[in-house]
Formats: sequence, C-alpha cells, structure tokens
Amino acid sequence: MSRVLVFGAKSLVGSHFVQTSGHRIHAAGLRDPRGFGVRVEGFVEVDMNSPREAASAVSGADVDAVVNFGAATDVDRVERERPSSPEEAKGTAYKVNVLAPAAMSKAALARGLPFVLLSTDFVFDGEQGPYAESTPPSKWSPLVSWYGWTKGRGEELAIAANPSASIVRISYPYRTDYPRKLDFGRKILAARRQHDRIAYFDDQWITPTWIPDVTRALDAILENHKSGVFHVASPERTTPFEFARELVTQVEGTDPGLSPGSMEEFLRRPGATPRPRHGGLSCRRIEGEGVRLTPWREGVRLLAEDYAAA
Ligand SMILES: NC(=O)c1ccc[n+]([C@@H]2O[C@H](COP(=O)([O-])OP(=O)(O)OC[C@H]3O[C@@H](n4cnc5c(N)ncnc54)[C@H](OP(=O)(O)O)[C@@H]3O)[C@@H](O)[C@H]2O)c1
Repeated sequence: MSRVLVFGAKSLVGSHFVQTSGHRIHAAGLRDPRGFGVRVEGFVEVDMNSPREAASAVSGADVDAVVNFGAATDVDRVERERPSSPEEAKGTAYKVNVLAPAAMSKAALARGLPFVLLSTDFVFDGEQGPYAESTPPSKWSPLVSWYGWTKGRGEELAIAANPSASIVRISYPYRTDYPRKLDFGRKILAARRQHDRIAYFDDQWITPTWIPDVTRALDAILENHKSGVFHVASPERTTPFEFARELVTQVEGTDPGLSPGSMEEFLRRPGATPRPRHGGLSCRRIEGEGVRLTPWREGVRLLAEDYAAA
C-alpha cells in the first residue's frame, strides 16, 4: 500500500480505484470527495484550469505516486470549444486535458514520482481499430472530436515532459454502482426503464472497459514501476447494438427486439460530434503484466447480476 495523489477522485472511473485499491489516497480537485461519500485521507482544492495550481499540488504532496483521472469529459460539450485549427487551441478542455496533465507530469518527474494519466480510444480517428499501444494519437481531423484531440495532445505533452510517465487508455467504461454519472451499461438500462426507444449502432466497433480492470491495471503499473502506454479494455470487440441486446436480454430474460441504428448515418448529420467507428483497443502490454481483462459478455453478466440483486 502506498500514498497516491489522485486528481478526479470522485470521477466515475477514479472513484473505483480510490475506494477499492487499498492505497492511502490524497485527493486533488474542485470538490472534496468526502462530501460525496468517497473516503480519502486528505484533500487539496485544485482547479485544473490552472496548470500552475495542478503542478504545485504535485510538488507539495507527501505521496509516492500521482494518478490523474481529472478531465473535461463531456464529449458533446467539449466539442463546442473546437477551434478552427489546433494552433488556435484554448478554452477549458485545452487547459484541463492538455496543459494541466503536462504540468503535473513535469512536476512528478522533478520529484521522482510515478505519474499515470488516464486517456481514451477517442484519441484515434476510428479508421483502423482495434488500436495497439504503439499507435500514436491521430492527427487533427474531422474524424477526431475536440475531446479526443485534447486527450491525445495531453498524452503527448505528458510523455514529452516526463518520459517515465504512463498513459492508460480505456474505452466505454462501465461498472455496477456509481450514483453520480451513468456509464455505458447503466445508460442502456436507464433508457429501458424510461421506455426510450434508442437505436444502438450496429456498425460501430468498440471494446468496453470493465472499470474494476482499470483499478487492477493501475495497481500493476504502480507496483511494477511501468512507463509508457497501456490499454485496458475487453479483449473481444462488440458493437453498441450487440452489447445493449445482451445486457437487456440478461436483465429482462428475453430478447428485447431493439432496433439497430447506423453510426455512419449519424456521423453524416450536421453538428454530430465525431467518435471512432472502427475503434477499440488491443491490450497486449497490460496482459503481459499479468492483468486479466474482462471480456464484455462476462462484464455484462456481472452488471446484470448486480442489477437484479439491487
Ligand atoms: N467516461 C468515459 O466514457 C471515458 C472513456 C474513456 C476514457 N475516459 C477517461 O477516464 C478518466 C475519468 O473519466 P470519468 O468519466 O470517470 O470522469 P468524470 O466522472 O466525468 O469526472 C471527471 C473528474 O474530473 C475532475 N475535473 C474536471 N474539471 C476539473 C477542473 N477544472 N479541476 C479539477 N478537477 C476537474 C472532476 O473533479 P471534481 O471531482 O473535483 O469535480 C471529476 O472528478 C478521464 O481521463 C477520461 O478522459 C473516460
């Protein structure tokens, strides 16, 4: 067990690490996670809009490692900040997703602390997934959302500032319990409860991430002092349609007869935020560290069992 400074401690993904990893957690962020039922040992208020504040939290913390889950994550809202070229980049997502992680990473290097940055398969344009860890983030393109571009640039600057930093990319994360934000799986179940007739894409390829796998991966990376890029996701690909059908069938006991939708058509609509179509992550490196990844059908079964028990 070690002391870890965590940015984004009450986030959907980060709160699982904070609550279950067994590390002594010091949180940094806008709000004290203890006010939201997330137990941590200490808290420092930091606005990641200020890279200097983010860096000084790292410089001043009495910890053994730093993990950043903090990010501007609302993909559609972030898209509204998209500039006409990357040279004109500014705004909240640029500061929070690019400049702050770069500053944290540099500050961590100066203190000899391991630094891990959470990222996403949205850094890729979705032309050729599933992507290997060695694939660099895609260049600026209409196929890459502004969220995806900022996360990719954040990765690049974090590594440039600190070659021993690690990046952990995940994809459509889901878990069984988290009251503050619906994840990929529970969004489907919530839509079902509200009788929303959503058409799920059957022409998009994804590798959904079972969130407990992220916690185990982070533990392995920290314990084994690993650097570089790791992918944590289902070893098998699926489509949102297949995932939703399996989940609803498990929960309701019969095939729900969901309607498939087309991502290709969706992306042709004016104003649609781009997302990777042939996305997904191939995860050899983390499996090489002995971390077993949960295939999506098994994750769906675990989610459905928990839902039935609730
Ligand atoms: N959710 C997904 O679908 C998904 C997919 C792939 C990758 N990821 C990556 O996984 C990580 C966690 O995502 P998530 O969905 O779990 O996050 P989330 O639930 O949306 O939470 C975002 C976190 O970022 C913090 N944050 C945002 N703006 C901040 C600011 N200006 N200053 C300080 N903290 C700020 C928030 O802090 P407070 O708690 O203090 O408000 C919050 O804890 C992110 O790096 C994300 O890019 C997520």
